Amino acid sequence: MFPKLLLFHITALLSVNTLVRGANLGQWGPLIEFPLVPVAAALLHDTGELLVWSAYSTDTFGPTISGQTQTAIYNPATGAVTKKTITNTQHDMFCPGISVDFTGRIMVTGGDTAAKTSIYDVTGNDWIAAPDMKIPRGYQASAILSDGRTFVIGGSWSGGIGGKNGEIYDPTKNSWSLLPGCPVAPMLTADNAGVFRQDNHGWLFAWKNGYVFQAGPSKHMNWYGTTGSGSQTAAGLRASDTDSMAGNAIMYDAVAGKILTVGGAPDYNGSRATRNAHVITIGTPGSTPSVVQINTMWYARAFSNGVVLPDGKVFITGGQTFTDPFTDNNAILTPELWDPTTTKFVKMASNQTPRTYHSVGLLMQDGTVFAGGGGLCGSCHTNHLDGQFYSPPYLFASDGVTRATRPAISSLSATTVKIGGSITVTMAGAVNSFSLIRMASTTHTVNTDQRCIPLTPTVSGLKYTIMVPGDAGVALPGYWMLFALDSAGVPSLAKTVLITL
Ligand SMILES: *[C@@H]1O[C@H](CO)[C@@H](O)[C@H](O)[C@H]1NC(C)=O
Repeated sequence: MFPKLLLFHITALLSVNTLVRGANLGQWGPLIEFPLVPVAAALLHDTGELLVWSAYSTDTFGPTISGQTQTAIYNPATGAVTKKTITNTQHDMFCPGISVDFTGRIMVTGGDTAAKTSIYDVTGNDWIAAPDMKIPRGYQASAILSDGRTFVIGGSWSGGIGGKNGEIYDPTKNSWSLLPGCPVAPMLTADNAGVFRQDNHGWLFAWKNGYVFQAGPSKHMNWYGTTGSGSQTAAGLRASDTDSMAGNAIMYDAVAGKILTVGGAPDYNGSRATRNAHVITIGTPGSTPSVVQINTMWYARAFSNGVVLPDGKVFITGGQTFTDPFTDNNAILTPELWDPTTTKFVKMASNQTPRTYHSVGLLMQDGTVFAGGGGLCGSCHTNHLDGQFYSPPYLFASDGVTRATRPAISSLSATTVKIGGSITVTMAGAVNSFSLIRMASTTHTVNTDQRCIPLTPTVSGLKYTIMVPGDAGVALPGYWMLFALDSAGVPSLAKTVLITL
């Protein structure tokens, strides 16, 4: 009798193990070395390469204001890395605001050299100096607006503490102007380090008619209007959420105005992160959004990264359960995948390398996610001059090992399309749906560029016609990745589409 029982237990254990090993949790690729800590990252629209940078140094930052930045471009097709020290804009671009404009230029404001603006012209492969901001900033957030101007707010980490109200860059005039009607006070957290930390890393979402929705990290949410001298309207509390510094907010369905928020902590340094998750639905600018508290994440996280995938699911990776910058203490090595249909999180394949403070996450054109960086603390033990690509479950058959056969886009009727316009996609085989994901930039958990537009095509044989939403606040002009998804949810490689006003 005893041996039989034992046998039963062994069999039960074995079958559980087999189940875990056979489950489709996605896969991490090999660790890739970089010549610097990738603290900031942006996707290059012309080649699909990854632009990353650190600070004046490859593995540490200030206080020396040296007016240069260490950058590298990684080519995912060849694995080649090109390192370059940028000196011509005299800008140490550590801890900046970043957003990508209507023509795909990567706009970098402030940081260590707090007033400077540098713009990376992707097609010219060149950094260009733009005028200084009126208010010097570091740790501000920046967002491209529906009219092509760029809004920034917050940023007391650099350039003086307090008073970091909104200002705006107009590309047609190549100039900055203050928006006194956009005060930063309503979006402050109650951080124990004071204003220095309270106005950092705003969760900004460009929306209709030049408006910006600020979803966090403060528990108070706000609308900022950017016409004239600007305006601000309180948008209520994020349900019963705490202040959520260094959490993530991801617009996973721009058409429906849906934003997922996860994690973060009340204080930038020395507080417990949360497992909290909410879905915010925004509508008419100025109106109070709906906020629904949903199932929590499996892990509490701050300094994690959130990446929307072509199927509208959101991948949450890295972070630590207690805010402790420049350490890997309490690092979470198991990412989670959030499904908007079930509103539940599922644990994915773990990796080995902690990605905490100063780590980045970004969607690539092949549907993988880049996760890299962490550290930038000189002689510390937590510098990560590396990154890794994660292949989500949709790239595998149900055994989690065999690669899925991907649908292929044969051709597009146009690669440039106006808002409200349509594109006919010729496929090599039948597919179910399409999605557009805006090419993005990120640093310090903030990514105001990424958003997903799910698309239902009209079908004629293997020709699928998709319609781009007609509002520039939803289909923010600029470069987007167009994915086709088959009936099993397997995405194609992306084609690049430029959406224009
Ligand atoms: C965080 O707080 C600890 C304890 O007060 C301090 O030693 C450390 O320097 C702080 N780190 C940062 C990045 O502010």
